[in-house]
Amino acid sequence: MKIKKVLVTGGLGYIGSHTIVELVNKGYEPIIIDNLSNASIKVLDVLEQMLKIKIPFYQIDCTDSCEVNKVFDEHKIDAVIHFAALKAVGESIQKPAEYYYNNLVSTLTILKAVQAHGVKNFIFSSSATVYGNPIHVPCLESDPIVNATNPYGQTKIINERILTDYSNIHKDTNIALLRYANPIGAHSSGKLGENPNGIPNNLMPYVSQVAVGKRDKLTVFGNDYPTKDGTCIRDYIHVSDLALGHVLTLEKFETDPGLVIYNLGTGEGTSVLDLVNAYQKATGIKINYTFGPRRDGDIPTNYLDVTKAKNELGFKCKYSIEDCCKTAYEFQIKHPNGY
Ligand code: WQD
Repeated sequence: MKIKKVLVTGGLGYIGSHTIVELVNKGYEPIIIDNLSNASIKVLDVLEQMLKIKIPFYQIDCTDSCEVNKVFDEHKIDAVIHFAALKAVGESIQKPAEYYYNNLVSTLTILKAVQAHGVKNFIFSSSATVYGNPIHVPCLESDPIVNATNPYGQTKIINERILTDYSNIHKDTNIALLRYANPIGAHSSGKLGENPNGIPNNLMPYVSQVAVGKRDKLTVFGNDYPTKDGTCIRDYIHVSDLALGHVLTLEKFETDPGLVIYNLGTGEGTSVLDLVNAYQKATGIKINYTFGPRRDGDIPTNYLDVTKAKNELGFKCKYSIEDCCKTAYEFQIKHPNGY
């Protein structure tokens, strides 16, 4: 069966909005659910103008079973991509009940609607965080999943478990657990990008705000890690490359693979200082920084082995780390105060 209509939860968020672009470019028909808790309604206008189409949009919460089921009743949905979740690691430690409730109940609500409406394709937004402090790098999909270092990561692990158990008994349903590296950068048009509320938690938006003078300097959290330059190493992937990984997964679903797990990253480790240097090189702007203490819960090194996605999906990253920095900067310049 050819997949056409794709329900995208969290479709106005950072990864969700970039995925909508790639879906429409490949001829899919997205339907968006977003509660706007961490996204702007203006993103819908941007998408509709960029793509020159109307996109069905529902401002509802994925934990609201009644509203969610109405959307499934209204559209003949072929596949679901479930992005909607709370995602701030530090906040998850402060608010475990909110994080477990939101991230688990939303998946369960969507999954029950999927089951009730006979939808056979489901992509779940997972994270490299499920590898915890990895036993080796690059992390492989077959590595043991033990415990994450925070409630946010733990919700990803539990959601993976729920979907694996569902898949065990619903053999005719295709489920993909996509474990993301750190998404960065912005759409090449400069019209879509990362737009955090308040002080950015993540490295790239912080660096971009320093670049445009919105913040004085970056604090690099720790320079005494057992890495080449003492700063943490991550796998930074351009958000549009990550978005395309979802389209490739939908194409894979046409072969009825059942449960699949893929790491989506570049396969390369980049330190905090590497990223700062790449940003300076890509933009010609000096990024002021100082070293500060380690941040609680950070692990020294995490990057992903992406051989499986390469071989089975044809997944390949197009953007270099400098491209990521350049596009992030261009978005920041065009949107000094967000959307
Ligand atoms: C990267 C590196 C920091 C800010 C988290 C989640 C992950 C994913 C992305 C979803 C670390 C350092 C950061 C700063 C710094 N989830 N840093 N100064 O922690 O790898 O991943 O966000 O949204 O699941 O765990 O990403 O961008 O916060 O940090 O030195 O001001 O940059 O210590 O080494 P992280 P990050």
